[in-house]
Amino acid sequence: MAGPVPNARSRRIEESVTLAIMAKAQRYKAAGKNVVSLAAGEPDFPTPGPIADAGIAAIQQGRTRYTATSGVPELRQAGALWFRTAYGIDFAPEEVMACAGAKAALHMALHTVVEKHDNILILAPYWVSYPALVTLADGNPIVLPAVPDEGFVHSAAAIDAAFRQHQARGILINFPNNPSGAVPSRAQVQAFVDVAKAHDAWILSDEIYGSLLYDGATHVSPATLPGGRERTIVVNGFTKSHTLTGWRISFLAAPRPVIEAAGRLQSQALGNPCTISQEAAIAACKQPLTSELERRMQAFDGRRRYLVDEINKIAGLQLQAPKGAFYALVDVRALCKRLSCDDVAIAERLLEEQLLAVVPGTAFAIPGFIRLSYAASMDDLRAAVTRLRAFAAGLS
Ligand SMILES: Cc1ncc(COP(=O)(O)O)c(C=O)c1O
Repeated sequence: MAGPVPNARSRRIEESVTLAIMAKAQRYKAAGKNVVSLAAGEPDFPTPGPIADAGIAAIQQGRTRYTATSGVPELRQAGALWFRTAYGIDFAPEEVMACAGAKAALHMALHTVVEKHDNILILAPYWVSYPALVTLADGNPIVLPAVPDEGFVHSAAAIDAAFRQHQARGILINFPNNPSGAVPSRAQVQAFVDVAKAHDAWILSDEIYGSLLYDGATHVSPATLPGGRERTIVVNGFTKSHTLTGWRISFLAAPRPVIEAAGRLQSQALGNPCTISQEAAIAACKQPLTSELERRMQAFDGRRRYLVDEINKIAGLQLQAPKGAFYALVDVRALCKRLSCDDVAIAERLLEEQLLAVVPGTAFAIPGFIRLSYAASMDDLRAAVTRLRAFAAGLS
């Protein structure tokens, strides 16, 4: 019996290319196969005890009811202070709202500023959901091809040319970048701001990996730079740094009119983000947990160095050292050429032949690459390197 069908907007949203590989990896695991998965973008550390305890205390003390829809005032205040101390961005509490995760914050921001058919620039490689999020907000995603030879950071001239060509209303950036690990210099971020200012455009800056940095790299938010504050919408929080992945809580911060409008949308569409998670986020803002976070960064850094050393020894593979986040974007173009296939086929073969799950670069608009997450144990990383080596050796 044929009934009504889903609408055109939902039909425009494609299923993620990563899903097929992840689903297959799950099936193999369920069948008892020894799959090593470096596909997930989720730290292997638990949520730190004091943060989880704040959530538990909220439940035990009965703070489990509806809150103000943009977050409790204490969280907005703590968030504003955290933005100032951690990143040097001067937001008032009214310019900070709580959302149900960074993804929800991006969704709210895009729905607040994008007009129908607005062109929004997205720098490849990008996090998989960006084009769909722009499309859902009735905008047109315009993807600038990746620039691996420039350390994955686009030049101001290339961005300026794209703004001109597409009359774009905004640009969506993500540094430290998932999947490349790129972190632009202050001068490069200032150049992005200057271009956006020249076109009177929005900058939507996804800074969810802002505290995961290596080799002395610093994270500079466009909101801290001259010309940036009035046009930058910042998404940040503790999802990746503190493993608040399942808690669904993050911040959206921007000039007051944006936050007021986004707050109205959120109040109608979603209501408040989880009350218990808000308490956990207050604790995360207030407690620096210095030694715990240093311990994590040391672990991530050790794994990163291991991958860079070992992967670059494998013929046909190349890895530029990531400066931030916890992903290794491995150049497999030489393998693709040798096998006359693409990165999706390489990822499929790695899973089928070596039981190694990775994400093909095509998912991030960087064909010819594969992404390995090093938010995984050293044992898993060693096994992954052995399997990559065996795969490449089997081809020679
Ligand atoms: C760049 C980037 N932005 C946003 C998100 C989503 O974060 P959240 O789980 O807080 O929605 C992710 C998750 O992988 C990400 O990599």
